[in-house]
Amino acid sequence: MTNSTRSNSVFPAEGDIGEMYVTEEQIQNRVRELGAQIAADCDGQVPLLVAILKGSVIFAADLMRAIAGPVEIDFMAVSSYGDATESSGVVKIVKDLDSSILGRDVILIEDIIDSGLTMAYLVDHLAGQQPASLKTCSLLVREGQQAPDYKVDYVGFEIPPAFVVGYGLDVAQRYRNLPYIAAYTG
Ligand code: IMP
Ligand code: MG
Repeated sequence: MTNSTRSNSVFPAEGDIGEMYVTEEQIQNRVRELGAQIAADCDGQVPLLVAILKGSVIFAADLMRAIAGPVEIDFMAVSSYGDATESSGVVKIVKDLDSSILGRDVILIEDIIDSGLTMAYLVDHLAGQQPASLKTCSLLVREGQQAPDYKVDYVGFEIPPAFVVGYGLDVAQRYRNLPYIAAYTG
């Protein structure tokens, strides 16, 4: 990838950013489509987006603005990876919701689904709190990593099995501000 293809980047990549998987324009178009789809599916109900910090925060902020109509947002923080690039398989709730989801139409917002362990844990955790409905939305799904019957209601993009950064996704808290999704090669 040449520097010109990253001309809208907030900083020049430092040599450890590899192949571009999703451009800024592709992300913005897809987020608009997802927002329209969610608004249509909500059918007059007010959805409560539950964004998983920190990775989904950029996606959730854009998605929320792509939903024409009333929508609310709350946040949870979980730790599953630490600063490593592979899943530990251990999900710990670091910050819980501010308000009850009883009777709410909840949409869980993730940045990326790899093994699916984080989302599966959160679905299980929130389903026990009696929401009216509970759906899942992820900007990215890593191809072929989840159990065959694993279903996500709203998917932005499927990506190949490389560790990626940008648009909220980090490695050791860096690169979240890249406006595109690219492989991390460092
Ligand atoms: P899972 O539990 O294996 O599905 O992993 C999902 C979580 O791991 C996401 O919420 C991300 O925080 C993190 N993660 C997985 N793959 C990547 C990646 O390629 N880049 C950055 N974070 C990732
Ligand atoms: Mg992360």
